[in-house]
Amino acid sequence: TGFPNLTDNDWLYGGTPDKIRETLLLGRVAAMPPWGDALGEQGVKEMTAHVLSLSGRTVNQKDAAAGEAKWAMCAACHGADGKGSVAHNLPFGAPNLTDNVWLYGGSQ
Ligand code: HEC
Repeated sequence: TGFPNLTDNDWLYGGTPDKIRETLLLGRVAAMPPWGDALGEQGVKEMTAHVLSLSGRTVNQKDAAAGEAKWAMCAACHGADGKGSVAHNLPFGAPNLTDNVWLYGGSQ
């Protein structure tokens, strides 16, 4: 949990030789900020539904739509489409949330 699988070709910072070399030389520090205060309990429930919908899971549509409406908070790191740092060439190490590969588990 929390440690990426290095055998699956799903990278947080990029899987090119140069990116892997940079990872080994400089280290990586990921920062997923807490959102409990900003979203509140209901907002977290709605955002959870939206995140699960990104990988095609069956969710409450009303909750997912309400979560999606607040996605701008997340897009800065995960991208407008949720595909993460590598897809958008960003340095944050934000994982792709659309591929059903999870660092911390994909249950609600
Ligand atoms: C400042 C950049 C940043 C922002 C903004 C951000 N995240 Fe993240 N998020 C990350 C990083 C980096 C990680 C990976 C943390 C790690 O590797 O330990 C992460 C991890 C996650 C994970 C866990 C993925 C997994 O594979 O287990 C979820 C879910 C998630 N973010 C959802 C969100 C949502 C929803 C928002 C908006 C409310 C959001 N994030 C905003 C950077 C960000």
